[in-house]
Amino acid sequence: MERIRLDKLLAAGGAGTRSEVKSFIRKGQVTVNGAVCKNADGKVDAQNDVICLDGQPLTYTEFEYHMLYKPAGCVTAARDSRYPTVMDYITSARKKELFPVGRLDLDTEGLLLITNDGNLAHRLLAPGRHVDKTYYARIQGETTQEDAVRFREGIDIGEDRLTMPALLEILTAGPVSEVRVTIQEGKFHQVKRMFTAVGKQVLYLKRLRMGSLVLDGGLQAGGSRLLTQEEIDDLRKGALHE
Ligand code: URA
Repeated sequence: MERIRLDKLLAAGGAGTRSEVKSFIRKGQVTVNGAVCKNADGKVDAQNDVICLDGQPLTYTEFEYHMLYKPAGCVTAARDSRYPTVMDYITSARKKELFPVGRLDLDTEGLLLITNDGNLAHRLLAPGRHVDKTYYARIQGETTQEDAVRFREGIDIGEDRLTMPALLEILTAGPVSEVRVTIQEGKFHQVKRMFTAVGKQVLYLKRLRMGSLVLDGGLQAGGSRLLTQEEIDDLRKGALHE
């Protein structure tokens, strides 16, 4: 049973800012299980108590999960002095609690999960869990089956060990090739460094998938939406087993 402050629950439920909800509480607009409650810092049971503002019931969930289609040109950080950050694309009453799960480079686009669920984030990112990440990339140079073999066997990118087996799917091969790459790790600039190691250069990189979570084809770059309950459950299940 989770007990939280009444004003925090109301603000997190989107009823207003902390000072606005305090004023609603003071004015008697808030009821807990049918009784007016004027005590903003009183604790309520977030799961079982029925909280209403002006007679309208409010729901509170502990965690928020946002899917962002990260555009190029923003940094995966909460704050930055030079560039916009991924958080600038998220609207939430609880923005201060949210953080991005993992990183994408400044020029990389695509799927980024933003949440306040530290447990899930930890499980998705833990090196021992090998959660698959799939990227679409445009490559300068002709990608070959030999590259695919090298990706499968592991590549020396200057770390202590070779990279873990990665799947390189060649979609089109030519002076500029199109590929899909699935990696099990998340080393700094990993995909770019893997292509550099086989003598090629990544021109464009977009993440399509992380674990069970797939970038919503209906989102535009810079767009975001909340995860569905099914997506959340699948991510949790996958992160437990991977
Ligand atoms: N690999 C990269 O090189 N860059 C990213 O942003 C993600 C994976």
